[in-house]
Amino acid sequence: MHKSMSYIVFCLILLSIVSLTTVIPISSNNADCDKEFKSPSDLKMSRGINIGNALEAPREGEWGVYIMDEYFSIIKNAGFDTVRIPIRWSAHAEEKPPFKISEAFFNRVDHVVNVSLKQNLITIINIHHYEEIMYELEKHRERLISLWRQIAEHYKDYPESLYFELLNEPHGDLTDDIWNSLVEELVKTIRESNPTRKIIIGPTDWNSVYKLKDLRLPKDENIIVTFHFYTPFEFTHQGAEWVKPTPPTGVKWRGSEAERRRIREELDIAAKWAKENNAILLMGEFGAYSRADIESRIRWTSFVAREAEKRGIAWCYWEFCSGFGAYDPVKKEWRKELLEALVSGKHYVSVESEYGEFSGTGWYEEGSYALIRLMEKDTLALDVFDHFEGLGQNDRIIDDKTIEIYVDGPRVIKAVWRKNIIMISIFVAISILILLAFAVIIFKKKTKIVKS
Ligand code: BGC
Repeated sequence: MHKSMSYIVFCLILLSIVSLTTVIPISSNNADCDKEFKSPSDLKMSRGINIGNALEAPREGEWGVYIMDEYFSIIKNAGFDTVRIPIRWSAHAEEKPPFKISEAFFNRVDHVVNVSLKQNLITIINIHHYEEIMYELEKHRERLISLWRQIAEHYKDYPESLYFELLNEPHGDLTDDIWNSLVEELVKTIRESNPTRKIIIGPTDWNSVYKLKDLRLPKDENIIVTFHFYTPFEFTHQGAEWVKPTPPTGVKWRGSEAERRRIREELDIAAKWAKENNAILLMGEFGAYSRADIESRIRWTSFVAREAEKRGIAWCYWEFCSGFGAYDPVKKEWRKELLEALVSGKHYVSVESEYGEFSGTGWYEEGSYALIRLMEKDTLALDVFDHFEGLGQNDRIIDDKTIEIYVDGPRVIKAVWRKNIIMISIFVAISILILLAFAVIIFKKKTKIVKS
């Protein structure tokens, strides 16, 4: 063959090999999975969201959420890099050995996971709401291990961006010792088929920060430690029907020094523990229920997210489109402020006031200044603006209607109004005069009638 001809043939062969390898699917157990996955190992888990109340309901849809494919692009495009999908496997597996998980359910989870992975979202699946195990461990231990053996085997060829989380919020009979030995067994089981997959493990007492110190981790390089964060509970869970007794509503979160300190201190416990134990942290759930007022929710959400980020803690908001929802599935749009609280990386500065309009409220970078000014007031001159309340050491008063707020977290400034005594006196005097005038007219009319 001519030299240049063999060169062309060589190039063509090379080209076809390259194009073939790019379309060959990774092996999988599922038809849905035979599309090309990008599995960049540099995918970063930082900001995520839980698609809650769907696959962890007894049946998907029963709690009002059915996962639509488009949710994943909506989530990705909004700036999240991670999705946590809680799953109630225990409701879809045989009660007796071999505890087989239903094929139809696997197919459904495969589909959801595939759509998520194709958006290049780090995708966490867990075992959620296996309530029986919390109180009847011995009866369910073997079943839990079998569930993980099946799940692990099923997803063993999936990209590394699929993460496993052992069990949501261990509590009840799962005391530290019992949980630690179960963790060891579960990790060993998963490692039989998934030697390097990321496994997420949380402490007891509903994944409490305070229980991190009692968590015993297996020696394994691919473990991430999770905790859940709902402090203060009486704020985040006000009106939550599933909590008994249900905490009363009307609790605000203004971001006062004391309120912020409480959150910082708890997150510090987690960060300190992670440093000492060389662990990677995920705040796998945090959020405030929609029975709380939206301004407080925005402040709390942005503050907790920013404080976690400062400590290098990845987070997943609880949750996408249900009772805590950052997304409104009926209007098919994000609740803009909650989304901003999560992904903008900023803090919200607002003014609480009975009257008037203020310029300069909104989202600010930490460390910047917000210029707040009273623009106009929508009231009679009976109330006059007096002063701003809630200023800190680093804030500046520019003039009596303008201030500069140092943004070191979400800030809420109160505008205080006072009664305008002069205007009120004039108003009262005019009213009395008018009344007197009426009285005189009526009196005159009556005396006329009497005379005639
Ligand atoms: C539970 C949800 C609950 C949420 C906040 C989750 O771990 O699974 O049912 O709404 O925590 O309390």
